[in-house]
Amino acid sequence: MPSPHSEPYLSANERHPERSLQFDFVRATENAALSAVDWLGRGDKESADAAASDAIRGTLEQVDFCGDVVIGEGIKDNAPGIFLGEKLGSWKFPSPRFNIAVDPIDGTTNISKGLPNSISVMAAAHVPHGAQAAMLNIPTFYSEKLAYGPTVVAAMKRDPALRFTLDTPVEQILERVATALGKNVRQVYVVVLDRPRHAKLIADLRAAGAALRLISDGDVTAAVSPSLHDTGIDLYLGTGGSPEGVLTAAGVLALGGDQQLRMWPRDAAELAEIKATPAAAELGRIYYAKDLITSPSAIFCATGISDSALLPGVKLIGRKVITHSILMRSQSRTVRYIKTVHDLDFKTIRRSPDRKDHYV
Ligand code: FBP
Repeated sequence: MPSPHSEPYLSANERHPERSLQFDFVRATENAALSAVDWLGRGDKESADAAASDAIRGTLEQVDFCGDVVIGEGIKDNAPGIFLGEKLGSWKFPSPRFNIAVDPIDGTTNISKGLPNSISVMAAAHVPHGAQAAMLNIPTFYSEKLAYGPTVVAAMKRDPALRFTLDTPVEQILERVATALGKNVRQVYVVVLDRPRHAKLIADLRAAGAALRLISDGDVTAAVSPSLHDTGIDLYLGTGGSPEGVLTAAGVLALGGDQQLRMWPRDAAELAEIKATPAAAELGRIYYAKDLITSPSAIFCATGISDSALLPGVKLIGRKVITHSILMRSQSRTVRYIKTVHDLDFKTIRRSPDRKDHYV
């Protein structure tokens, strides 16, 4: 049967430029991970973030696309990073336009302490000719989030009684997820960021009987995990960074899962700021993944820095370094796990400040 996406006269890569460029994006997160891992456990998250950011900028400036950073990590914590409004790519005419969401390191505190659960992650969505944007920027620092996998999505479509939203009491969410997955509630594995703001949520989840897994940082891996069949995670719940929520949306879209997200102004000052902008009208809105990534042609890629449920971390064996990445494309729903062996005697990384190739 012909695909609904086929158009005569255009090659697959012309119709969907992310199809060939995706490998350059994963090269960028690999280089970020290789650069950041040197800072693992050294108590210096700024240097780790700077190294990862420089590697992403340097790698991508050699690739022909016009990238606008719509979601940049720097807005969250004022750390070195890749910022909202930055340009990535060579910007050679007539290269395809992309909106980019990037977190050079999700889990910078984990890196500085030498803990597990840090990745380098980015999403890129092709901006079709004539369109303004392909991704939505969520202006609040934090958002409430609820992420689940494809089996739960399918069950909710099939049976309206199994539907839930961010407003559904947690014990009912757990029961419905358990039913959808054919488990009992004690077998539903839920990940939550270990934060004082989650005290009630954690108590409610425990009271309802969920198998809780608290994490100290890094909620992109946690929120994408329920959409992958082999992570053992069923649900991600809680309030975390908004940029991480948009990155997650690209990941779950390519896997058939979903995420609900709602802006969560962290204090009165931020609420007043938002109320003075057009975003005020969206304050109570629940966004689903497809509301955040509006282009059908998007990719999500991540490389492990330290071990996580999603990916093994960087491993140094003699003069070889092994990285593990995941690369997914929403159009085809292809998921690639890429194990790469880098030879330290040959491998170089282009870094942005001096635009030169450096040995790792
Ligand atoms: P960074 O590594 O980019 O700083 O983010 C780590 C992180 O744990 C995110 O994964 C999460 O969304 C956010 O911080 C939670 O924010 P906070 O640490 O302020 O609770």
